[in-house]
Formats: sequence, C-alpha cells, structure tokens
Amino acid sequence: MLGSLSGRTVLVTGAGQGIGRAVAVQMARQGASAVAVADRNKETAAETAELVRAEGARAEAIVCDLRVRDSVHEMVERTAECFDGLDVLVNNAGVIETAFTAEPERGVDSLSEEVWDAVYEVNLKAVWLTTKFAAPHLRRSRRGPAIVNAASVSGLTGFPNAPAYGVTKAGVIHLTKVTAVDLAPVRCNCFCPGVIDTPLAQGYFAAAADRDAMERELTAPQLVERLGRVEEVAKLACFLASDDAAFITGASYVIDGGALAWLGVRD
Ligand SMILES: NC(=O)c1ccc[n+]([C@@H]2O[C@H](COP(=O)([O-])OP(=O)(O)OC[C@H]3O[C@@H](n4cnc5c(N)ncnc54)[C@H](O)[C@@H]3O)[C@@H](O)[C@H]2O)c1
Repeated sequence: MLGSLSGRTVLVTGAGQGIGRAVAVQMARQGASAVAVADRNKETAAETAELVRAEGARAEAIVCDLRVRDSVHEMVERTAECFDGLDVLVNNAGVIETAFTAEPERGVDSLSEEVWDAVYEVNLKAVWLTTKFAAPHLRRSRRGPAIVNAASVSGLTGFPNAPAYGVTKAGVIHLTKVTAVDLAPVRCNCFCPGVIDTPLAQGYFAAAADRDAMERELTAPQLVERLGRVEEVAKLACFLASDDAAFITGASYVIDGGALAWLGVRD
C-alpha cells in the first residue's frame, strides 16, 4: 500500500484506547505494513488489533505491563521477531495521578511516594527502557527509523495537582532530545497534547468535585473552543514518524488548541 509510512513496522504502547489506538489505526491507514498493539489490557489491545487489520495491515496484540522490565523487553523482542524488524516506535502510554489515587491529596506536599513511583515508572522509566531495548532494531532499519514519544503541555508549564505527571512529561521532552542525539540517525521527536478527548482526560474530569467546571477550566485557555480529537494527535504522530519529517529530530510539537500561546482565558 502506498502512503507516507509505506512498508513500516510499528510498535505502539498504550494502544488499547485513546490516542494510542488512534495512532495504531492511522499508521495502518498511512501504509504501515504491520503494527504491534501493546497494552496491559488484553481485550482493548485485541480490539485495536482488529481495527488495524481492517485498514489492511498486519497486527499483533501484545499484553505488556510497562512497569515490569522483563515485560517491556519481551514486548520489544516479540514485535521484532513477528515483523522481522522494527522501523517505528511510539512510546504513547502514560498515566496521571488520578489513575492511582481517589484521594484529593495530589499536590507536591501531599502526594504519596507510591503514586509518584507509579507515574514515574510508566511515564518516564518505561519510555527510556522501551527505547533502550528497541534501539538495536531501529539502528538496523533501512526504512527511516523513528521514535515518537507522548509528552504533554504539562511538561512545558505548571498545572495544579499532578506533580509527578508534569515532571515526568518534562522528562520525556528532554529524553526526546538526548535520544535524538545518542541514536542519530534514528530520529526522535515528541508531541505535547493539551486536552484531548480520551478516557484519561475524562477520568481526570470525573475526579473533580464538579466535572463540567473542570472541563471548562481546562479548555478556557484554548483559542480553539473544544476538546482535541485523538485523530488530530494521531496524524501529528504519523507525520513525525514519516519521511516527510526527515529533517526533524529532537523536537517537541505542541498540539493544544492554542492554550500555551498566551496567558489568557476566554470569556
Ligand atoms: N488525553 C489527554 O488530554 C492528554 C494530554 C496530554 C498528554 N497525553 C498523553 O498521551 C498519551 C495517551 O493518553 P490517552 O489520553 O490516550 O490515555 P488513556 O488513559 O486513554 O490510554 C492509555 C493507555 O495506556 C495503557 N497503559 C497504562 N498503563 C500501562 C502499563 N503499565 N503498561 C501497559 N499499558 C499501560 C492503558 O491501558 C491505556 O490503554 C499519554 O502518554 C498521555 O499522558 C494525553
């Protein structure tokens, strides 16, 4: 199939839902030959794999817990073995404090060490480990090898009550740069979404005392008056993975409806 990702073999983490699912499907739509759909949730990974097959690509659903080193290693090796190599790695999976604690205490001075470690292990340590294990395969690729990481606007500016999330996303932005340096000519870039309509964002709204007020508060700084769509982020991720972005590496791309463009809020 012709397309900007023609013939690529791809691994997407956290591909069972949300942005990761959209990225897996969009990769296939743009010509990827095979997509490994990794998630800790077996059922949702299998659903995404079906969606990828419906776009004409091969798909392998892989159950992986990114907090477990051997599971990460197995995910990468199984992908490379099934697809005879790896051209594109998308480190998409991420978690926020609300996934681990129902407690209102999520500030710098009240977060528990357990929650800090859980967010760190998925959002930053696993991104590094997956990159480390994928590096030999990506270096062997002759089809424009690339890594795309999921960061966040939270890694660029301060948000309340998600300290581990923001710090780990800032870490992903820097990890993107050092990866681009150390693995060149393998390219590495990241996307920094604002508020995108996914189960993660909906869970964050739901954890607030007033769900709708929280959604309004988070989208009020945007110049585009709506939640972002997963397809919009997926198209950016696919661009960064493709040869159309051959001169781009070590870079961060904000996709936030303009929220970081100014210091204001809409009326
Ligand atoms: N949705 C947003 O508004 C938004 C904003 C900024 C950044 N992001 C980032 O984009 C990425 C995708 O976000 P999303 O909103 O689609 O999230 P989501 O919660 O909807 O989906 C994340 C997926 O990752 C999987 N996952 C979580 N922990 C895992 C683990 N230990 N091992 C394996 N898989 C695991 C989950 O099962 C889930 O399928 C994340 O890195 C997130 O931080 C999202």
